[in-house]
Amino acid sequence: MTDLDPAKLPRHLAIIMDGNGRWAQRQGLVRTSGHERGADTIRLITTECAKRGLEQLTLYAFSAENWKRPRAEIQFLMRLLKKFLIRERPTLMENDVRLTAIGRLDDLPGPARAELDRSMQLTAGNGGLNLCLALSYGGRAEIVDAARALAREVAAGRMRPDDIDEESIAQRLYQPGPDPDLLVRTAGEMRVSNFLLWQVSYAEIYVTDACWPEFDLVELHKAFAAYAGRTRKYGGLVDPAPASLQRR
Ligand code: FPP
Repeated sequence: MTDLDPAKLPRHLAIIMDGNGRWAQRQGLVRTSGHERGADTIRLITTECAKRGLEQLTLYAFSAENWKRPRAEIQFLMRLLKKFLIRERPTLMENDVRLTAIGRLDDLPGPARAELDRSMQLTAGNGGLNLCLALSYGGRAEIVDAARALAREVAAGRMRPDDIDEESIAQRLYQPGPDPDLLVRTAGEMRVSNFLLWQVSYAEIYVTDACWPEFDLVELHKAFAAYAGRTRKYGGLVDPAPASLQRR
């Protein structure tokens, strides 16, 4: 589908990439093959979002809860992340994509963290799409971290408790910026799974049965078309977003 109205595309798309394991098992492959194919899907979807002029694509790449998986799978995912970061640099540069990350990044193993820092530095000047990887990310932990930052400012006498409002909390999240307009989840589960809890307040939600390794441009365009057909009311009666939401 090429006739998508650019004015009706989301500015910020967030994706819960689920179903790598199920896809692999269905193909008679080991779960880790699903993660490998999933990394290829990231390249496909990122490039398309960059070409379509989206401002931000946030991907749930490794949740705070994913540390509970078997050690071998965690090791595989961390090595894959490292390889992915190295391998994708030319494509990111070619498409003017800036790579950023949210989450408790200090939890990542040293080699993956070092390549992440390198990719972020290399792409920092790119002005196109912001590809934000959520790594060791938890939505509740993010809100806890923001609350701690505010508490420190109050304790230091730089803020009063009554100064705390939505804006001051939003500014202390891992990466202040526009809230997601569209949240896509693959593999059919109807859950938010601790992803961007603060930021998805007014996001449109789209769930597809397609697993992440089979999520292709046809699937992405279906999600965009569904979004284009939604009326966003932000709790009121008609568009547009309240000024406070537009700013973020
Ligand atoms: C869910 O599949 C997927 C994840 C664990 C996160 C996404 C990971 C990738 C796309 C791998 C590559 C990522 C990077 C950044 C290189 P699942 O294992 O939960 O699937 P299942 O629910 O079918 O078991």
